[in-house]
Amino acid sequence: MKIILKDIPDLQKLDIYESNGGYSTLKKALKDMSPDDIINEVKASNLRGRGGACFPTGLKWTFMPKVTEKPKYLCCNGDESEPGSFKDREIFEKNPHQFIEGTLLSCYAMGIKTAYVYIRGEYYKWINLLQKAIDDAYKKGYIGKNILGTNFSTDIYIHRGAGAYICGEESALMNSIEGKRGYPRVKPPFPATYGLWGNPTTINNIETLANIPEIIKNGHEWFLKIGEPKHPGTLLFGVSGHINKPGVYELETGTPLMTIINDYCGGMIDGKEIKMVIPGGSSMPPLTKEEALTIKMDDASLKAIGSAIGTAGVIVMNEDTDIVKVLERISQFYYHESCGQCTPCREGTGWLMRILKRINNGEGRIEDLDLLTDVSQNIEGNTICALGDAAAWPVKWTVKKFRDEFEKKIKKESVSLPVKNKVHSLR
Ligand SMILES: Cc1cc2nc3c(=O)[nH]c(=O)nc-3n(C[C@H](O)[C@H](O)[C@H](O)COP(=O)(O)O)c2cc1C
Repeated sequence: MKIILKDIPDLQKLDIYESNGGYSTLKKALKDMSPDDIINEVKASNLRGRGGACFPTGLKWTFMPKVTEKPKYLCCNGDESEPGSFKDREIFEKNPHQFIEGTLLSCYAMGIKTAYVYIRGEYYKWINLLQKAIDDAYKKGYIGKNILGTNFSTDIYIHRGAGAYICGEESALMNSIEGKRGYPRVKPPFPATYGLWGNPTTINNIETLANIPEIIKNGHEWFLKIGEPKHPGTLLFGVSGHINKPGVYELETGTPLMTIINDYCGGMIDGKEIKMVIPGGSSMPPLTKEEALTIKMDDASLKAIGSAIGTAGVIVMNEDTDIVKVLERISQFYYHESCGQCTPCREGTGWLMRILKRINNGEGRIEDLDLLTDVSQNIEGNTICALGDAAAWPVKWTVKKFRDEFEKKIKKESVSLPVKNKVHSLR
């Protein structure tokens, strides 16, 4: 079952999209459905956000004020800067008009006249592809003033990011669009009351929005039958690592991880064993081989074993992988990307990285494992935004689940430096 990346050649072209029913849902909705009808349909479909947190989309939309003097905004989040996540760009390349139609339906539902698509600056190719699709849709009267001869008007603009992971966080994203430094904002107030330039704003992921036309066309009952009812629909799994065919695979929620690896990704390279799998982008707690063998890929199944689906960016690592090195690299990323606003994240991410570095350099101490856990727990939940959690979770859970890998490294390579020197190496 494919909802977004359908097997239709040249679907990115407007005429092909139209000849396959594209924009007919928008036409029908503007004629026959009220904005509330659309919100209710999305609510009943139980669509959950695809940007990482799985928040119910319809419920989020109801937070927007219906009557207000202020302008309202939609921010379409295509920042996609988390290591292991590379699925939204596939939508810009293969089916941009379905995303545009979803954005227009969402704007109609919430009474929004301006949508910004925030895309990381490095996505040069995909920015151009989306801009072409937007230009074509403007020419045909799908975007702009009095869309399809109705009273509904909406503009869609692309806003290029400058390459900071933090700008994918919704409030940092809004600050970035406003031309300010990408610092997350303290919440409350939440974006639906105080968003872009202090006006009501909704932020949704690109994949979330691309689901909307099919939900409105086919109805919520159709959507609820796909995959796991509590987390229905499909997911664009971006799979990378030690597998034969890395790529983006659209599959129903609840698909077993091993089905993805063996049936779609061509199995492990050289038939090696799995050692660790990150299920949803680098911030998600990793899975052991035993967990990977039986896990189904949906929100509830992953939460039940202490992980989460995140962005469905799956990173598969084989038996030869140096887990401590992997974790040091991941920690280096979060240290580099911390915006520095909150002390636990600014200082803690550096501590995590340096402790891991010294373990990899053969200067580790067995107490470092408890120290890593302690530092992680002091970051988690103590910051304005979830970048702190994103940095802490992989460390806390990798140490917990793969402790023997760390112990082996410390015992085998440890050199007995005076404690003073080791503390010094933390700075
Ligand atoms: C550090 C950080 C980076 C994020 N990056 C992205 C991103 O690139 N794309 C995205 O859709 N959501 C990202 N999010 C989540 C957004 O804040 C927000 O929850 C999401 O865009 C909401 O869309 P959804 O409800 O459709 O999932 C990030 C969150 C954090 C804390």
